[in-house]
Amino acid sequence: MKKKATCEACEEQKKYDEIRNIIDLYRGKEGSLIQVLHTAQKIYGYLPHELQQFIADTMNIPFSEVSGVVSFYSFFSVQPRGQHTIRVCLGTACYVRGGKKLVEHLLKTLNVELGGTTADGKYTFEVARCIGACGLAPAIMIDDVVYKQMTPTKLNALLAKF
Ligand code: FES
Repeated sequence: MKKKATCEACEEQKKYDEIRNIIDLYRGKEGSLIQVLHTAQKIYGYLPHELQQFIADTMNIPFSEVSGVVSFYSFFSVQPRGQHTIRVCLGTACYVRGGKKLVEHLLKTLNVELGGTTADGKYTFEVARCIGACGLAPAIMIDDVVYKQMTPTKLNALLAKF
């Protein structure tokens, strides 16, 4: 048990060291905060308060500046995220062609709230406003891949592959 705790602390330290290196890499460059936050979220998975404080201290900027950027952009998350992110498009074309049905289906199938993460940590479920596939609506995204003309049945088959 003790060994595992030590190991977790090592992993945590490794992530912080990696983020410190990224900050050094971007030091003095314009617009670097967003880049640093992006990379930090990739490394750590999300941006908890302590990590935002670490970034502010290491970059020598006020915490309010960091937290302001994090809360302004929806792609930054202060909660742990799932292994995969599912986004159902609810832009007009997708909404009228069944996007809402897909949302209802996923709420039931994944047993998760909108914006939430499944209990097993596998999926974070969100909605989006137009992902550029209106001609083949309804569309969804899983991580960076767009899937078009989705139905609840196709969605089940797709999720079974993950
Ligand atoms: S409205 Fe869904 S892709 Fe454009």
